[in-house]
Amino acid sequence: MLQKLEEVKKEFDSGVGLVGSMPDMAQFKADFLGKKGKLNALMGGMRDLSVEEKKSFGARANEVKQEMTDAIDKRSQDIELEAINAKLAKNKLDISWTDKIKDLGQQAAGLHPLTQVTRELEDIFLSMGFDILDGPHIEDEYHNFEALNIPESHPARDMQDTFWFKDKKHLLRTHTSNIQIRGMEQKKPPFKFVGPGKVFRCETLDASHEAAFHQLEGMMVGKDIAVPHMIHFLRTLLSEIFKREIKVRLRPGFFPFVEPGFELDYECLLCGGKGCSVCKQVGWVEGLGCGMVHPNVLSGGGIDPNKWNGFAFGLGIDRLAMMRYHIDDVRHLHSGNLQFSEQFKTY
Ligand code: PHE
Repeated sequence: MLQKLEEVKKEFDSGVGLVGSMPDMAQFKADFLGKKGKLNALMGGMRDLSVEEKKSFGARANEVKQEMTDAIDKRSQDIELEAINAKLAKNKLDISWTDKIKDLGQQAAGLHPLTQVTRELEDIFLSMGFDILDGPHIEDEYHNFEALNIPESHPARDMQDTFWFKDKKHLLRTHTSNIQIRGMEQKKPPFKFVGPGKVFRCETLDASHEAAFHQLEGMMVGKDIAVPHMIHFLRTLLSEIFKREIKVRLRPGFFPFVEPGFELDYECLLCGGKGCSVCKQVGWVEGLGCGMVHPNVLSGGGIDPNKWNGFAFGLGIDRLAMMRYHIDDVRHLHSGNLQFSEQFKTY
Protein backbone atom coordinates (compact mmCIF):
# COMPACT_ATOMS: atom_id res chain seq x y z
CA MET A 1 0.00 0.00 0.00
CA LEU A 2 2.69 2.46 1.00
CA GLN A 3 4.60 1.63 -2.13
CA LYS A 4 1.49 2.29 -4.23
CA LEU A 5 1.09 5.62 -2.45
CA GLU A 6 4.67 6.57 -3.34
CA GLU A 7 4.02 5.58 -6.95
CA VAL A 8 0.95 7.80 -7.12
CA LYS A 9 3.00 10.61 -5.60
CA LYS A 10 5.74 10.07 -8.18
CA GLU A 11 3.20 10.15 -10.98
CA PHE A 12 1.81 13.36 -9.53
CA ASP A 13 5.25 14.95 -9.20
CA SER A 14 6.22 14.29 -12.77
CA GLY A 15 2.85 15.52 -14.08
CA VAL A 16 2.09 18.67 -12.10
CA GLY A 17 4.76 20.83 -13.79
CA LEU A 18 3.41 19.91 -17.22
CA VAL A 19 -0.13 21.21 -16.63
CA GLY A 20 -0.43 24.30 -18.83
CA SER A 21 -3.82 25.86 -18.16
CA MET A 22 -6.30 26.37 -15.37
CA PRO A 23 -8.98 24.04 -16.85
CA ASP A 24 -6.31 21.32 -17.25
CA MET A 25 -5.28 21.96 -13.66
CA ALA A 26 -8.85 21.44 -12.45
CA GLN A 27 -8.90 18.08 -14.21
CA PHE A 28 -5.47 17.11 -12.87
CA LYS A 29 -6.52 17.99 -9.34
CA ALA A 30 -9.70 15.88 -9.66
CA ASP A 31 -7.63 12.94 -10.96
CA PHE A 32 -5.49 12.86 -7.83
CA LEU A 33 -7.36 14.57 -5.02
CA GLY A 34 -11.00 14.35 -6.13
CA LYS A 35 -13.64 12.08 -4.61
CA LYS A 36 -12.98 9.49 -7.29
CA GLY A 37 -9.30 10.39 -7.48
CA LYS A 38 -6.26 8.19 -7.08
CA LEU A 39 -5.57 9.15 -3.48
CA ASN A 40 -9.11 8.37 -2.35
CA ALA A 41 -8.99 5.04 -4.17
CA LEU A 42 -5.95 4.08 -2.08
CA MET A 43 -7.57 5.28 1.14
CA GLY A 44 -10.44 2.92 0.35
CA GLY A 45 -8.04 0.01 0.76
CA MET A 46 -7.05 1.06 4.28
CA ARG A 47 -9.65 -1.10 5.98
CA ASP A 48 -7.60 -4.21 5.07
CA LEU A 49 -4.56 -2.89 6.97
CA SER A 50 -3.45 -3.64 10.55
CA VAL A 51 -3.74 -0.92 13.15
CA GLU A 52 0.00 -0.20 12.92
CA GLU A 53 -0.04 -0.09 9.13
CA LYS A 54 -3.15 2.11 9.18
CA LYS A 55 -1.29 4.59 11.37
CA SER A 56 1.82 4.87 9.25
CA PHE A 57 -0.12 4.79 5.99
CA GLY A 58 -2.60 7.38 7.20
CA ALA A 59 0.19 9.71 8.34
CA ARG A 60 2.02 9.45 5.02
CA ALA A 61 -1.21 9.78 3.02
CA ASN A 62 -1.98 13.03 4.82
CA GLU A 63 1.51 14.29 4.11
CA VAL A 64 1.20 13.39 0.44
CA LYS A 65 -2.18 15.10 0.26
CA GLN A 66 -0.74 18.27 1.73
CA GLU A 67 2.27 18.18 -0.60
CA MET A 68 -0.01 17.72 -3.60
CA THR A 69 -2.27 20.57 -2.55
CA ASP A 70 0.75 22.86 -2.12
CA ALA A 71 2.23 21.84 -5.46
CA ILE A 72 -1.11 22.46 -7.20
CA ASP A 73 -1.40 25.93 -5.64
CA LYS A 74 2.13 26.82 -6.64
CA ARG A 75 1.69 25.59 -10.22
CA SER A 76 -1.67 27.43 -10.51
CA GLN A 77 -0.01 30.67 -9.54
CA ASP A 78 2.70 30.09 -12.13
CA ILE A 79 0.10 29.39 -14.81
CA GLU A 80 -1.65 32.69 -14.07
CA LEU A 81 1.63 34.58 -14.12
CA GLU A 82 2.59 33.00 -17.42
CA ALA A 83 -0.76 34.05 -18.89
CA ILE A 84 -0.24 37.65 -17.74
CA ASN A 85 3.30 37.72 -19.10
CA ALA A 86 2.16 36.32 -22.43
CA LYS A 87 -0.51 39.03 -22.65
CA LEU A 88 2.01 41.73 -21.78
CA ALA A 89 4.46 40.45 -24.38
CA LYS A 90 1.72 40.58 -27.00
CA ASN A 91 0.58 44.13 -26.17
CA LYS A 92 4.04 45.49 -25.60
CA LEU A 93 4.50 49.18 -26.50
CA ASP A 94 7.72 49.64 -28.35
CA ILE A 95 8.89 53.16 -27.58
CA SER A 96 11.64 52.98 -30.15
CA TRP A 97 8.94 53.06 -32.84
CA THR A 98 9.96 56.29 -34.60
CA ASP A 99 13.40 54.90 -35.47
CA LYS A 100 11.94 51.58 -36.53
CA ILE A 101 9.38 53.28 -38.74
CA LYS A 102 12.10 55.36 -40.34
CA ASP A 103 14.18 52.21 -40.87
CA LEU A 104 11.22 50.64 -42.61
CA GLY A 105 10.92 53.68 -44.83
CA GLN A 106 7.44 54.39 -43.47
CA GLN A 107 5.96 57.70 -42.38
CA ALA A 108 5.43 58.53 -38.74
CA ALA A 109 2.53 60.73 -37.73
CA GLY A 110 3.11 64.28 -36.50
CA LEU A 111 1.09 67.20 -35.23
CA HIS A 112 -0.35 69.74 -37.64
CA PRO A 113 1.15 73.23 -37.19
CA LEU A 114 -2.27 74.55 -36.08
CA THR A 115 -2.47 71.87 -33.40
CA GLN A 116 1.05 72.68 -32.25
CA VAL A 117 0.30 76.41 -31.94
CA THR A 118 -3.06 75.78 -30.24
CA ARG A 119 -1.45 73.51 -27.65
CA GLU A 120 1.27 76.06 -27.00
CA LEU A 121 -1.35 78.78 -26.49
CA GLU A 122 -3.26 76.54 -24.10
CA ASP A 123 -0.09 75.86 -22.12
CA ILE A 124 0.67 79.57 -21.83
CA PHE A 125 -2.85 80.33 -20.60
CA LEU A 126 -2.89 77.37 -18.23
CA SER A 127 0.34 78.70 -16.72
CA MET A 128 -1.46 82.03 -16.15
CA GLY A 129 -4.30 80.26 -14.34
CA PHE A 130 -6.91 80.21 -17.13
CA ASP A 131 -9.29 77.28 -17.61
CA ILE A 132 -9.83 75.81 -21.07
CA LEU A 133 -13.40 75.54 -22.34
CA ASP A 134 -15.04 74.22 -25.47
CA GLY A 135 -18.14 75.26 -27.38
CA PRO A 136 -20.20 73.83 -30.26
CA HIS A 137 -19.48 74.48 -33.96
CA ILE A 138 -23.20 74.37 -34.72
CA GLU A 139 -24.66 77.18 -32.67
CA ASP A 140 -27.96 78.93 -32.22
CA GLU A 141 -28.64 82.56 -32.96
CA TYR A 142 -28.76 83.39 -29.27
CA HIS A 143 -25.23 82.24 -28.37
CA ASN A 144 -23.57 83.45 -31.55
CA PHE A 145 -25.28 86.85 -31.80
CA GLU A 146 -28.07 87.90 -29.48
CA ALA A 147 -26.37 87.25 -26.14
CA LEU A 148 -23.30 89.04 -27.52
CA ASN A 149 -25.28 92.23 -27.91
CA ILE A 150 -25.42 91.87 -31.70
CA PRO A 151 -28.87 93.11 -32.72
CA GLU A 152 -30.75 91.59 -35.60
CA SER A 153 -29.92 94.44 -37.95
CA HIS A 154 -26.16 94.29 -37.35
CA PRO A 155 -24.11 93.74 -40.53
CA ALA A 156 -22.27 90.83 -38.89
CA ARG A 157 -25.48 88.88 -39.25
CA ASP A 158 -25.45 89.47 -42.96
CA MET A 159 -26.24 86.32 -44.93
CA GLN A 160 -22.97 86.74 -46.81
CA ASP A 161 -20.85 86.24 -43.71
CA THR A 162 -22.78 83.52 -41.97
CA PHE A 163 -23.44 79.94 -42.97
CA TRP A 164 -27.06 79.47 -41.85
CA PHE A 165 -28.91 76.19 -41.59
CA LYS A 166 -32.20 75.83 -43.42
CA ASP A 167 -34.20 76.33 -40.22
CA LYS A 168 -32.76 79.90 -40.09
CA LYS A 169 -32.23 79.41 -36.34
CA HIS A 170 -28.95 77.54 -36.38
CA LEU A 171 -25.65 78.45 -37.95
CA LEU A 172 -21.97 77.52 -38.07
CA ARG A 173 -20.45 79.75 -35.42
CA THR A 174 -18.82 82.79 -36.98
CA HIS A 175 -16.48 83.32 -34.03
CA THR A 176 -15.48 81.62 -30.80
CA SER A 177 -17.26 84.38 -28.83
CA ASN A 178 -20.12 81.90 -28.28
CA ILE A 179 -17.74 80.35 -25.73
CA GLN A 180 -18.01 83.58 -23.66
CA ILE A 181 -21.75 82.97 -23.33
CA ARG A 182 -21.37 79.23 -22.74
CA GLY A 183 -18.69 79.97 -20.15
CA MET A 184 -20.86 82.46 -18.24
CA GLU A 185 -23.61 79.82 -18.13
CA GLN A 186 -21.23 77.46 -16.32
CA LYS A 187 -19.19 79.73 -14.12
CA LYS A 188 -19.63 82.20 -11.30
CA PRO A 189 -17.26 85.19 -11.19
CA PRO A 190 -14.39 85.63 -10.70
CA PHE A 191 -13.21 83.41 -13.55
CA LYS A 192 -10.81 83.39 -16.46
CA PHE A 193 -10.88 80.96 -19.35
CA VAL A 194 -9.88 80.51 -22.97
CA GLY A 195 -11.64 78.49 -25.65
CA PRO A 196 -9.90 77.56 -28.92
CA GLY A 197 -11.72 76.22 -31.96
CA LYS A 198 -12.82 76.30 -35.59
CA VAL A 199 -15.02 79.10 -36.88
CA PHE A 200 -16.75 79.52 -40.22
CA ARG A 201 -17.46 82.46 -42.50
CA CYS A 202 -18.73 82.66 -45.99
CA GLU A 203 -15.66 84.48 -47.33
CA THR A 204 -13.93 84.88 -50.66
CA LEU A 205 -10.77 82.80 -50.31
CA ASP A 206 -7.32 84.27 -50.80
CA ALA A 207 -3.82 84.02 -49.27
CA SER A 208 -5.09 85.35 -45.95
CA HIS A 209 -8.76 84.25 -45.92
CA GLU A 210 -10.27 80.83 -45.41
CA ALA A 211 -13.94 79.91 -44.96
CA ALA A 212 -13.00 77.76 -41.96
CA PHE A 213 -10.35 79.14 -39.67
CA HIS A 214 -9.37 79.07 -36.02
CA GLN A 215 -9.69 81.42 -33.10
CA LEU A 216 -8.89 81.39 -29.45
CA GLU A 217 -11.41 83.21 -27.30
CA GLY A 218 -10.43 84.54 -23.91
CA MET A 219 -12.51 86.00 -21.10
CA MET A 220 -11.55 87.24 -17.68
CA VAL A 221 -14.13 88.54 -15.22
CA GLY A 222 -13.35 89.85 -11.77
CA LYS A 223 -13.20 93.07 -9.77
CA ASP A 224 -11.61 96.29 -11.00
CA ILE A 225 -10.15 94.84 -14.17
CA ALA A 226 -8.93 97.46 -16.61
CA VAL A 227 -7.55 97.77 -20.13
CA PRO A 228 -3.88 97.57 -19.02
CA HIS A 229 -4.54 94.11 -17.53
CA MET A 230 -5.80 92.97 -20.88
CA ILE A 231 -2.83 94.43 -22.71
CA HIS A 232 -0.48 92.73 -20.26
CA PHE A 233 -1.99 89.30 -20.95
CA LEU A 234 -1.97 89.78 -24.70
CA ARG A 235 1.62 91.03 -24.79
CA THR A 236 2.82 88.17 -22.61
CA LEU A 237 1.06 85.79 -24.90
CA LEU A 238 2.58 87.11 -28.10
CA SER A 239 6.12 87.31 -26.77
CA GLU A 240 5.83 83.78 -25.36
CA ILE A 241 4.61 82.40 -28.62
CA PHE A 242 7.19 84.18 -30.78
CA LYS A 243 9.92 83.79 -28.15
CA ARG A 244 10.82 87.47 -28.38
CA GLU A 245 9.41 90.96 -27.86
CA ILE A 246 7.12 91.79 -30.72
CA LYS A 247 5.81 95.13 -31.94
CA VAL A 248 2.07 95.58 -31.50
CA ARG A 249 -0.33 98.43 -32.11
CA LEU A 250 -3.76 98.99 -30.67
CA ARG A 251 -6.54 100.58 -32.73
CA PRO A 252 -10.08 101.35 -31.71
CA GLY A 253 -12.30 98.55 -33.00
CA PHE A 254 -16.04 98.06 -32.94
CA PHE A 255 -17.47 94.82 -31.60
CA PRO A 256 -20.95 95.07 -30.06
CA PHE A 257 -19.97 92.80 -27.15
CA VAL A 258 -17.12 94.99 -25.85
CA GLU A 259 -16.86 98.63 -24.81
CA PRO A 260 -14.33 100.04 -25.40
CA GLY A 261 -13.23 97.72 -28.17
CA PHE A 262 -9.83 97.41 -29.85
CA GLU A 263 -8.06 95.67 -32.62
CA LEU A 264 -4.56 94.59 -31.85
CA ASP A 265 -2.17 94.25 -34.78
CA TYR A 266 1.34 92.86 -34.66
CA GLU A 267 4.16 93.38 -37.12
CA CYS A 268 4.13 91.02 -40.07
CA LEU A 269 6.96 88.60 -39.52
CA LEU A 270 6.78 87.26 -43.05
CA CYS A 271 7.95 90.48 -44.69
CA GLY A 272 9.40 92.19 -41.62
CA GLY A 273 6.93 95.05 -42.06
CA LYS A 274 7.72 95.77 -45.71
CA GLY A 275 4.36 94.57 -47.01
CA CYS A 276 3.36 91.23 -48.55
CA SER A 277 0.25 89.32 -49.66
CA VAL A 278 -0.49 88.07 -46.15
CA CYS A 279 -0.45 91.53 -44.51
CA LYS A 280 -2.07 93.03 -47.60
CA GLN A 281 1.04 95.16 -48.16
CA VAL A 282 0.63 97.12 -44.91
CA GLY A 283 3.32 95.46 -42.79
CA TRP A 284 0.89 94.72 -39.93
CA VAL A 285 -1.45 91.80 -39.43
CA GLU A 286 -4.75 91.89 -37.63
CA GLY A 287 -3.97 89.71 -34.66
CA LEU A 288 -7.02 89.92 -32.49
CA GLY A 289 -10.12 91.77 -31.44
CA CYS A 290 -10.45 92.64 -27.79
CA GLY A 291 -12.06 94.96 -25.28
CA MET A 292 -13.85 95.33 -21.96
CA VAL A 293 -16.89 93.07 -21.76
CA HIS A 294 -20.06 95.06 -22.48
CA PRO A 295 -22.38 95.39 -19.43
CA ASN A 296 -25.27 93.99 -21.51
CA VAL A 297 -23.28 90.80 -22.12
CA LEU A 298 -22.52 90.42 -18.42
CA SER A 299 -26.09 90.98 -17.28
CA GLY A 300 -27.40 88.65 -19.99
CA GLY A 301 -25.03 86.05 -18.55
CA GLY A 302 -26.47 86.54 -15.06
CA ILE A 303 -23.53 88.62 -13.82
CA ASP A 304 -24.15 91.99 -12.13
CA PRO A 305 -22.15 94.57 -14.17
CA ASN A 306 -22.12 96.93 -11.18
CA LYS A 307 -20.13 94.39 -9.20
CA TRP A 308 -18.04 92.68 -11.86
CA ASN A 309 -16.19 93.59 -15.01
CA GLY A 310 -13.55 92.14 -17.28
CA PHE A 311 -12.06 91.77 -20.71
CA ALA A 312 -12.48 89.46 -23.67
CA PHE A 313 -10.46 88.80 -26.78
CA GLY A 314 -10.57 86.66 -29.89
CA LEU A 315 -7.23 85.71 -31.37
CA GLY A 316 -6.70 84.41 -34.90
CA ILE A 317 -4.74 81.18 -34.64
CA ASP A 318 -4.14 80.57 -38.35
CA ARG A 319 -2.26 83.80 -38.85
CA LEU A 320 -0.26 83.20 -35.73
CA ALA A 321 0.80 79.80 -37.07
CA MET A 322 1.62 81.39 -40.42
CA MET A 323 3.89 83.97 -38.77
CA ARG A 324 5.44 81.42 -36.50
CA TYR A 325 6.29 78.95 -39.25
CA HIS A 326 6.65 81.43 -42.12
CA ILE A 327 3.73 80.09 -44.13
CA ASP A 328 2.74 82.52 -46.86
CA ASP A 329 -0.73 81.26 -47.75
CA VAL A 330 -3.47 80.27 -45.29
CA ARG A 331 -4.86 77.78 -47.80
CA HIS A 332 -1.82 75.50 -47.25
CA LEU A 333 -3.06 74.85 -43.72
CA HIS A 334 -6.18 73.07 -44.93
CA SER A 335 -4.73 71.57 -48.08
CA GLY A 336 -4.25 68.12 -46.58
CA ASN A 337 -1.01 68.07 -48.53
CA LEU A 338 1.44 65.79 -46.71
CA GLN A 339 4.44 67.40 -48.32
CA PHE A 340 3.34 70.60 -46.62
CA SER A 341 2.49 69.27 -43.17
CA GLU A 342 5.51 66.99 -42.94
CA GLN A 343 7.77 70.01 -42.67
CA PHE A 344 6.38 70.71 -39.20
CA LYS A 345 6.68 67.23 -37.82
CA THR A 346 7.85 66.95 -34.26
CA TYR A 347 8.59 63.65 -32.58
N1 PHE B 1 -15.33 87.76 -32.08
C1 PHE B 1 -14.51 88.79 -32.67
C2 PHE B 1 -14.17 88.38 -34.10
O1 PHE B 1 -14.36 87.28 -34.47
C3 PHE B 1 -13.24 88.97 -31.89
C4 PHE B 1 -13.44 89.52 -30.51
C5 PHE B 1 -13.54 88.66 -29.44
C6 PHE B 1 -13.50 90.87 -30.28
C7 PHE B 1 -13.71 89.15 -28.16
C8 PHE B 1 -13.63 91.37 -29.01
C9 PHE B 1 -13.74 90.51 -27.93
O2 PHE B 1 -13.68 89.18 -34.88
